[in-house]
Amino acid sequence: MMMEEPRMVFMCLLILATFQQVVVSDEHQPLSKVAIHNIISELDQNAYVKANPSVLGLKGQNTEWVTLQYYNPKPTMDDWIGVFSPANFSASTCPAENQFTSPPLFCSSAPIKYQYANFSSPNYKKSGKGYLKLQLINQRSDFSFALFTGGLTNPKLVTVSNKVSFSNPNAPVYPRLAQGKTWDEMTVTWTSGYGINEAEAFVEWGPKGGKLIQSPAGTLTFDRNTMCGAPARTVGWRDPGFIHTGFLKELWPNKVYIYKLGHKLFNGTIIWSEQYQFKSPPFPGQNSVQRVVIFGDMGKAEADGSNEYNNFQPGSLNTTKQIIQDLKDIDIVFHIGDLCYANGYLSQWDQFTAQIEPIASAVPYMTASGNHERDWPGSGSFYGSMDSGGECGVLAQSMFYVPAENREKFWYSIDYGMFRFCIAHTELDWRKGTEQYEFIEKCLSTVDRQKQPWLIFLGHRVLGYSSAGFYAAEGSFEEPMGREDLQVLWQKYKVDIAFYGHVHNYERTCPIYQNICTNKEKNNYIGNLNGTIHVVVGGGGASLAEFAPINTKWSIFKDHDFGFVKLTAFDHSNLLFEYKKSSDGQVYDSFKISRDYRDILACNVDGCSPTTLAT
Ligand SMILES: *[C@@H]1O[C@H](CO)[C@@H](O)[C@H](O)[C@H]1NC(C)=O
Ligand SMILES: *[C@@H]1O[C@H](CO)[C@@H](O)[C@H](O)[C@H]1NC(C)=O
Ligand SMILES: *[C@@H]1O[C@H](CO)[C@@H](O)[C@H](O)[C@H]1NC(C)=O
Ligand SMILES: *[C@@H]1O[C@H](CO)[C@@H](O)[C@H](O)[C@H]1NC(C)=O
Ligand SMILES: *[C@@H]1O[C@H](CO)[C@@H](O)[C@H](O)[C@H]1NC(C)=O
Ligand SMILES: [Fe+2]
Repeated sequence: MMMEEPRMVFMCLLILATFQQVVVSDEHQPLSKVAIHNIISELDQNAYVKANPSVLGLKGQNTEWVTLQYYNPKPTMDDWIGVFSPANFSASTCPAENQFTSPPLFCSSAPIKYQYANFSSPNYKKSGKGYLKLQLINQRSDFSFALFTGGLTNPKLVTVSNKVSFSNPNAPVYPRLAQGKTWDEMTVTWTSGYGINEAEAFVEWGPKGGKLIQSPAGTLTFDRNTMCGAPARTVGWRDPGFIHTGFLKELWPNKVYIYKLGHKLFNGTIIWSEQYQFKSPPFPGQNSVQRVVIFGDMGKAEADGSNEYNNFQPGSLNTTKQIIQDLKDIDIVFHIGDLCYANGYLSQWDQFTAQIEPIASAVPYMTASGNHERDWPGSGSFYGSMDSGGECGVLAQSMFYVPAENREKFWYSIDYGMFRFCIAHTELDWRKGTEQYEFIEKCLSTVDRQKQPWLIFLGHRVLGYSSAGFYAAEGSFEEPMGREDLQVLWQKYKVDIAFYGHVHNYERTCPIYQNICTNKEKNNYIGNLNGTIHVVVGGGGASLAEFAPINTKWSIFKDHDFGFVKLTAFDHSNLLFEYKKSSDGQVYDSFKISRDYRDILACNVDGCSPTTLAT
């Protein structure tokens, strides 16, 4: 037995690695298309790029538009502009890392973004003159804009612009809230250029209109060698700055708090962020309306259209926009893995946290870890794919706080009023007998359903049911072993809904157990579900996944589009589920659950011990 197990796991990983190629075939990080190692210099004295303005953020903004004017005496169709930061990009060197990167000739970090020179100037190929408007965010360093000819694969550097910088590149930016280890603790994580030898990081906060206090924040950073491989360790590396987390404790339930990020320099000067606010969580079991948004695989995109015309995560900005528009009616957000698809291009984490700032600074932005955060061969991930681009979880685990005992393991539970959420980490082993399985059982079993009737399971990969083409191609409807190991727990502890991402579309099942629908109803559930409803909500933004041309009995609603789910608990007996499209924010699928808490305590198939001694 002891000898069999590792071999079996190895076989499974081999099979899984094959799946993985099918899944990620259309998921190449656009920055990886720039062949940095092929860059050569072909400077032209008459060419120029002028960037305006050269100082940004004079009014404290962290996002600004820059206009470029440029000229190339020998223009070609595939000339492009790369945005580099730090500005002195061509001066740095990077080592060859592994067999996947050849020794670089001209070594630099990858650009932060790029755009074709003809993007706003259709006559560029004739005149050699062009202009471009680009959006920059404050990310701790200055910028320069380089004009290349020879396309993305054989780039020849023609000229570099003047430098552009934010007035305070070190400023504290992009706060993201996350609920802490208890319901009455909010954590705020942000990024800055101030290390522990330069300043003390803190949060000034308090109830709106009340007395403010200052709470210290912790500071984390890491270096190139913390990364597991390329590109994170080579062309994708960029100094992450410092990541701070403050803990705001003993909150009153449902109260509006204001907060500001601060860095106290050692000469006494304090550098402040702008002021933000959030509403504190309800007491577990509290009867009040509670609204939850859930999606996976959102990614990021550039508002200026750079990086191959937004084809990497085409729905990302729409999803972000709809959630921002509905924000006053949202209490907490779950982004269940595949957060920004930086895939080893570290600069992209700043862009992502900037994109979600209006959401994450106002409501808890709870994350799960996906393959694009965690997977790397030989780094302990359950899957041996290279989807994290060498990040092997370090970025996700540092840039976002989660109330896990061990942030590397990334599984945790959250009590939010009448909800209990159990968040799994599908990139680590979840099977029976593992530490994670034990956690899942504990999370599901320790909730008092009279007070917290709504029990929700969340994870990145589909451990339940999905009609995705790439699962069907392997003759399955899930990640191998997922359901087989976990359905006993979902059934025993009467999980209401299980959510997954990874498959980039939307699908909802009937209440189901062991492949059989346990309830005939489709939209208006009354009483015990007798099974768990499984929902794939991976259409947050990344390019869509196809459904297999199969109709199963258990699949109630499929949508090949971008969208997200909103749950509204009206009270202990009424839950509304809505699926909204990211394009218009309208509801396209919905159902209700109405029941008494005693319905959940009642027995159903395999839901109670087989024998009862009491009479
Ligand atoms: C601009 O250049 C790109 C890359 O060569 C090309 O695909 C695109 O068609 C060009 N657009 C225009 C308007 O010429
Ligand atoms: C480039 O700039 C960065 C920060 O802006 C600095 O740390 C580095 O030393 C510079 N490199 C060179 C070669 O000038
Ligand atoms: C403290 O140092 C900062 C940054 O070097 C500087 O801008 C500020 O003027 C200094 N303040 C005082 C009171 O010296
Ligand atoms: C984004 O939303 C707009 C406006 O509703 C819509 O026209 C567009 O198709 C959406 N984009 C994607 C990729 O769905
Ligand atoms: C749920 O299961 C119980 C026990 O087997 C049964 O009495 C009840 O009718 C079932 N409910 C539905 C909606 O099928
Ligand atoms: Fe994924």
